[in-house]
Amino acid sequence: MGKTKELKLLCILLLFLVSVTANRSSSSQNQSLEIQTHLKNLNKPAVRSIKSPDGDIIDCVRIAHQHAFDHPLLKNHTIQMRPTFYPEDLFGQNKASSKSKQQSKPVSQLWQLNGRCPRGTVPIRRTKQDDVLRASSVQTFGKKVLRTIPQPSSAGPNLLTQSAHQHAIAYVEGDKYYGAKATINVWEPKIQQPNEFSLSQIWILGGSFGEDLNSIEAGWQVSPDLYGDNNTRLFTYWTSDAYQATGCYNLLCSGFIQINRQIAMGASIYPVSSYRSSQYEITILVWKDPEEGNWWMQFGNEHVLGYWPGFLFPYLSDSASMIEWGGEIVNFVSDGQHTSTQMGSGHFPQEGYGRASYFKNIQIVDGSNKLRIPKAIATFTEQAKCYDVKTGKAGNWGSYFYFGGPGRNPDCP
Ligand SMILES: *[C@@H]1O[C@H](CO)[C@@H](O)[C@H](O)[C@H]1NC(C)=O
Ligand SMILES: *[C@@H]1O[C@H](CO)[C@@H](O)[C@H](O)[C@H]1NC(C)=O
Ligand SMILES: *[C@@H]1O[C@H](CO)[C@@H](O)[C@H](O)[C@H]1NC(C)=O
Ligand SMILES: *[C@@H]1O[C@H](CO)[C@@H](O)[C@H](O)[C@H]1NC(C)=O
Repeated sequence: MGKTKELKLLCILLLFLVSVTANRSSSSQNQSLEIQTHLKNLNKPAVRSIKSPDGDIIDCVRIAHQHAFDHPLLKNHTIQMRPTFYPEDLFGQNKASSKSKQQSKPVSQLWQLNGRCPRGTVPIRRTKQDDVLRASSVQTFGKKVLRTIPQPSSAGPNLLTQSAHQHAIAYVEGDKYYGAKATINVWEPKIQQPNEFSLSQIWILGGSFGEDLNSIEAGWQVSPDLYGDNNTRLFTYWTSDAYQATGCYNLLCSGFIQINRQIAMGASIYPVSSYRSSQYEITILVWKDPEEGNWWMQFGNEHVLGYWPGFLFPYLSDSASMIEWGGEIVNFVSDGQHTSTQMGSGHFPQEGYGRASYFKNIQIVDGSNKLRIPKAIATFTEQAKCYDVKTGKAGNWGSYFYFGGPGRNPDCP
């Protein structure tokens, strides 16, 4: 080979390398620009910022400046500072005074140890660049990747192999539901790998399970990919097209309008329950304001967090057709074995109070705007040997169930 030929080859190789590198760096610049733009949309200027012990930053943002108002249909929106209507509780459990024989305690949020948001602002968990980088793309950040609604009535063996998601739930259907309430035992289940999660929540459902499912969801979750740690966090989710284009977790897209200045979506719940020791719980109520048509959410017995404007949900414009309560995990372990990600406390329902996780005082809001114990509660789980559910009825627990499990075990290989 002649010297010139060698040189030519070298030049071509060099050019190739330069162009590959240039392509790479311009695409990563693009990505970083896209991320910066997204972060600027999500993180509005703060009046005050509070550093939480778990590493979160909570920004106190003026109510009218929150991301919700970037929604084109909310440009002229008049903020509702309170619901015009509140469901009537036949048990009188709405007031904070309800006494339980068992020593379960209500909980708060970790960031509150380090400060409060001033009047006229709402606490918003700041989204960091790392949060977005853990998602597969800016577009999927804050969204569910798969259709994850348990569909009990048509769930057969086929569904098992199709979805990595597993549930242990109680549900009602076949009526008109104007809201739902429950007190949820709070745990910190172990997650086997970061792209899995474990949650306990209420689902408010309308439409069909095909393309147009409308869903409002609220509860607690552990999701390392979404939050970057294993903490138990308060969360909400909504979608109006079966998890395709609309909706997101918490305040990660415009939709939910927050009015409360004490509770932050996506922030860590503190403390959490421990096995055979102190039990902690949160109470969540979601209901439809019949006058405004908005879907409101309350945390505990005093914190009205805010609302999803009614127009977001065409199939919930009158009422919901199904309510579900319970746990969900995702099983992404690829070694042929079941994931050891826990649901609830990681213990089976049979173990009972202080060991297994529960939902108690399950209620629905009926057509006369009253909170009631639902009739005919059914249960559903894909693999009872991995995660199970057991319902019951008793005194001041009303309608309740224990649920959850360890995942991988000798009966769930
Ligand atoms: C660089 O990117 C352009 C457009 O995306 C593509 O056509 C070209 O093949 C790329 N070059 C290399 C060497 O990857
Ligand atoms: C960078 O972004 C612009 C506009 O969004 C796009 O036209 C271009 O193809 C992108 N370049 C690369 C290398 O991804
Ligand atoms: C908001 O109000 C302006 C002025 O009244 C009007 O032109 C616009 O169409 C309104 N936008 C929406 C989304 O209602
Ligand atoms: C989360 O828990 C897993 C084990 O369950 C552990 O390997 C991982 O390091 C934890 N992650 C963080 C951020 O603490």
